[in-house]
Amino acid sequence: MLILGIDTSCDDTGVGLVRLEGGRPEILSNLIWTQEVHSRYGGVMPELASREHVERIDGVVSGALAAAGVTLSQVDVLAATHGPGLIGALLVGLMYAKGAAQALDRPFYAVHHLEGHIYAAASEAELEPPYLALVVSGGHTHLFDVPRAGEYRLVGATRDDAAGEAFDKVARLAGLGFPGGPAIAEAARRGNPNAVAFSEPLQGQKGFEFSFSGLKTAALLASKAGATPEDLAASFQAVAVRSLLKTSVRAARHLGRDTLVVSGGVAANAALREAFATSGLRTYFPPPGLNTDNGAMIALAGAAAVLAGRPASPLSIGATAYLPL
Ligand code: KG4
Ligand code: ZN
Repeated sequence: MLILGIDTSCDDTGVGLVRLEGGRPEILSNLIWTQEVHSRYGGVMPELASREHVERIDGVVSGALAAAGVTLSQVDVLAATHGPGLIGALLVGLMYAKGAAQALDRPFYAVHHLEGHIYAAASEAELEPPYLALVVSGGHTHLFDVPRAGEYRLVGATRDDAAGEAFDKVARLAGLGFPGGPAIAEAARRGNPNAVAFSEPLQGQKGFEFSFSGLKTAALLASKAGATPEDLAASFQAVAVRSLLKTSVRAARHLGRDTLVVSGGVAANAALREAFATSGLRTYFPPPGLNTDNGAMIALAGAAAVLAGRPASPLSIGATAYLPL
């Protein structure tokens, strides 16, 4: 069975193809068109994102099919993100997949973007619940308990900025470019993580929440006080990673979980991966290319829905900007 997955929730046009055979999904291709137009604004411009998706989607689908050596008519199941995300951007991939499903008379599965991120890490490892899942991206910092397949209980989330958003904003104020995550990671290698004394957010809390807006303000003050971009990057990255790690480990102990899935764009961060490797938890990350937004993770979530015997989504389903998992 061939499953095509599309994600156009933000500024990446992602299309992936997965083969499901004997209950094991295998990624055949995963093509991502990253929109460059936003870099000159230092953030994603929603209207420009929608337009670029419209212009690119057909080419990215063709490219992903060609890379897997198949044609659209050979696809058995279509899946696309229906939320959360930028509404105009979401609509492009969703309408494309629904249109193809209707034209080919194939089932369509609407996928929650965060479920896609979680399956990006869980599928490769053939990981079965229970586990904790930390989704850290530009739009989310959400910690879920996953007691059973398809069941998500929110344990904690950010009170303000998402972790990736904070990486982006700190990079911008340090003059390191966009997207900020990779720029911070690169500059941090030449900086001193103890140079700027950031205080850890929400220290002493009983719950499992996150907060990053205070760090952003502290970074601005440190920058004005003369901290170098490299020291700022290293110190910010260290405190952000420590905060994510400590809260996740506390939550795991509280809930009696020994397995953790970390996914989303920020999960690509090497310092974060190193730190989580020493957490004492069995930790799983997505393979390369599956951390940031992509279509393969949506196809993997679609494959999980097929395996679980979930009914296909009605073609009347629309895009939703705010969509809790
Ligand atoms: O998952 P994603 O592609 O999009 C959303 O759903 O938000 O995540 C994008 C975010 C951006 O904020 C980007 O700066 C961050 O992930 N990111 C990183 C790294 N690579 C991407 N953050 C830290 N370190 C990285 N290496
Ligand atoms: Zn994402």
